[in-house]
Amino acid sequence: MPICSAKLPGPKGIPLLGNLLQVKSDTIHNDIQKWGEEFGDVFKFRLGHIQLIGILDYEIIAEILKERPDLFIRQQKMGNILKDAGAHGLFTAEGDEWKLQRKIITKGLDVKHQQTFFPSILTSTERLFNKWEKAASLSGEANIQQDLFRFTVDVTTSLAFGIDMNTQEQSGSVIQDHMEKIFPTIFKRINSPIPFHKLLRTKVDKEFDKACEAIQMIVNDFVSDGKKRIIENPNLKDSPENMLDAILIAADEEGGMENKDVTGNLLTILLAGEDTTSHSLAWAASILIERPDIQEKCFQEVNTILGDKPFMDSFSLHTEMKYTEAVIMEAMRLKPVAPIMLFEPLEDTVIKGYEFKKGERLLTHMRSSYTRDENFSKASEMIPERWMKKGSPCPHHNTNAFTPFGSGPRFCPGRNLAMLEMKMVLSMLIKNFKISAKTPQEDIKEIMAFTMMPSNFEVKIQKR
Ligand code: HEM
Repeated sequence: MPICSAKLPGPKGIPLLGNLLQVKSDTIHNDIQKWGEEFGDVFKFRLGHIQLIGILDYEIIAEILKERPDLFIRQQKMGNILKDAGAHGLFTAEGDEWKLQRKIITKGLDVKHQQTFFPSILTSTERLFNKWEKAASLSGEANIQQDLFRFTVDVTTSLAFGIDMNTQEQSGSVIQDHMEKIFPTIFKRINSPIPFHKLLRTKVDKEFDKACEAIQMIVNDFVSDGKKRIIENPNLKDSPENMLDAILIAADEEGGMENKDVTGNLLTILLAGEDTTSHSLAWAASILIERPDIQEKCFQEVNTILGDKPFMDSFSLHTEMKYTEAVIMEAMRLKPVAPIMLFEPLEDTVIKGYEFKKGERLLTHMRSSYTRDENFSKASEMIPERWMKKGSPCPHHNTNAFTPFGSGPRFCPGRNLAMLEMKMVLSMLIKNFKISAKTPQEDIKEIMAFTMMPSNFEVKIQKR
């Protein structure tokens, strides 16, 4: 007999609230991991009236991820919140709608298109280099978290719409103003166990609605302009200059994508591509600060590959950055920005002896398998060499237990672009600067919002 949720162990709660007072929304990933250590890899808990099943077993998680979109969907609550913001696209779509959008969006993010987008990544990298060079020569300190975020905002908006926002050198862009009102409200609503915004509309909620409306109009105009541009310049069909063009062209070829889907997907790309990449980079920087020996080894590699150049100036160079890539992989293993994900079965389903009933809420904890010695030797230690093909000192290296970009049919379509951005920035940073801590490492906390980010930390930056 499979074990159903009624039979699962779990932490004791209190009437009405269940375990709500035992978790904090910004550390929920760690609270779940602790419960997993106490109650096993599959357990249940309750947040108010909502029962959830926590799953730490990577084999069960892999099966859930694989059986999408037919047997499992992303949790509906998140989908509804993103829909309210007009950001209904690939991340929230399900069933046939998802199948069609997946084809179109993955086409727009494939290697051919990444090569086309490379010049805009290069421009943003150069601006970041100039900024850090100035910081190193003036105060010797840099707010690298903010700088990295602005870098990914610029790259992602340029990729999405073909416009150069240049938030690194100027502020006050219209899109960014609206985004700054939209994103935090989305995160707050996702993390709130009770939909307060439906009961009481605060000033923030009203501003959110206005910002969503305004951004929809701006993006609609971009879409109309894009359509005109493609008609006037048919050559774009072979080499679209941005994601908007790529989506419009692919949508035309595949059919079935309306204007609102194009808009929703452009907002989805902004949402999915900015925080994830900038926080992963910030975590990598925080780890490099803690380990000057790894910084030095990384420098040796980039110095050999780049020679006199301050940063990568051609797309092909990124494939040579093996150690830099290993540092990024190791940072994502220890500090994954998506440590948990939420799903619901569409039918009663049995996996590895557990029955998950239709509509039950499953909280999968991906990170716990990344940090177990049985999967990764000396799992708590930062050892980039474990990712190198030759000479790894780590016999246990179970890549099936490592899914920072998800897996199965819905794995992250921005993976390669994100890896390219991260290698560009990290190699530029290490080639030109030495970074050290101003904030003690133990004061850098993990904060779970939409993604897991580091709390604010300050960095000393010195020109090499
Ligand atoms: C370090 C950076 C990034 C990380 C760690 C990351 C991680 C993830 C994860 C864990 C998922 C869920 C996968 C699943 O359900 O199996 C996902 C989905 C997605 N990501 Fe990323 N991502 C990153 C960067 C990007 C970028 C740069 C873009 C686009 C420009 C992007 C676009 C998307 C989209 C559209 C989805 C939804 C895919 C679907 O449901 O079919 N991501 N990402």
